[in-house]
Amino acid sequence: MTSPADLSLVDEPSDEERLFDELIANEQRIEPRDWMPDAYRRTLVRQISQHAHSEIIGMQPEGNWITRAPSLKRKAILMAKVQDEAGHGLYLYSAAQTLGTTREEMMDQLLSGKAKYSSIFNYPTPTWADMGAIGWLVDGAAICNQVPLCRASYGPYGRAMVRICKEESFHQRQGFEILLTLMQGTDEQRAMAQDAVDRWYWPSLAMFGPPDDQSPNSAQSMQWKIKRFSNDELRQRFVSMLVPQAEILGVTLPDPELRYDEETGRYEMGEIDWDEFFEVLRGNGPCNAERIERRRTAHEEGAWVREAAAEYARKQRSTLVPGPAEGAVA
Ligand SMILES: [Fe+2]
Ligand SMILES: [Fe+2]
Repeated sequence: MTSPADLSLVDEPSDEERLFDELIANEQRIEPRDWMPDAYRRTLVRQISQHAHSEIIGMQPEGNWITRAPSLKRKAILMAKVQDEAGHGLYLYSAAQTLGTTREEMMDQLLSGKAKYSSIFNYPTPTWADMGAIGWLVDGAAICNQVPLCRASYGPYGRAMVRICKEESFHQRQGFEILLTLMQGTDEQRAMAQDAVDRWYWPSLAMFGPPDDQSPNSAQSMQWKIKRFSNDELRQRFVSMLVPQAEILGVTLPDPELRYDEETGRYEMGEIDWDEFFEVLRGNGPCNAERIERRRTAHEEGAWVREAAAEYARKQRSTLVPGPAEGAVA
């Protein structure tokens, strides 16, 4: 049996724990070699790898339009944007690797369907206006989510987010500009832009995750200063950014209940269809199977690139680093 005295010993935080808590409290960063609680490490690995998967899978809905972009300029912009997303995936996989997980493990989890990625990328892109709506709404939501992550307590994650956010803001502007051009065009083009906004608006609101009272992990993430604002708070910020921009565009946000409440200073909005959200998350969205299949094929077709890169790295190491014999002579 354990006596109360023993229990108090067990509860006493170690020096490492105390240092960790102090760093967090003082807004300082946790770096890869620092001690950290297992749960903090696990949370970060899950969040950063899901984020990386979302960037990589997110290349597909827009990659779909590169060959059909309406002009050379649009094609160049779209290609740059899709390449940026690959880069974001790369920074984030690297950040997750600093926590002791390998790229192979993360890729296996994605390809086996074990790991999640943002459900928004399981929706189809049937028209060119979808490129506008994705940039404006999806990248716009990503910015709202990610700007506070630049101050995340884990150093490599926060630093990766700084560059990512700069690029996301270009993505949002290019999306806005595509919609603006369409809205200044023919009736047909205006209808196409509105239709795309109608289809992407609700899924983009769902990107912030379930309402605060149904988001059990949020409080701990906020305590660890990984997350800085709650899901509902971020959703409010997003909508308050969208409303004036929708007015400039001349598009209608498809929520008849949306209104600004002068008293609370907040937007009232209609109910998000969470059943749909969880259905898509469970793998039953319109494009889940297609997205994973495409990623699997790309992974298999890219095997020779990984082998060549590994071989090149091996050769570099063997020519640049002195071997043990040379080291012994020196
Ligand atoms: Fe991105
Ligand atoms: Fe983006």
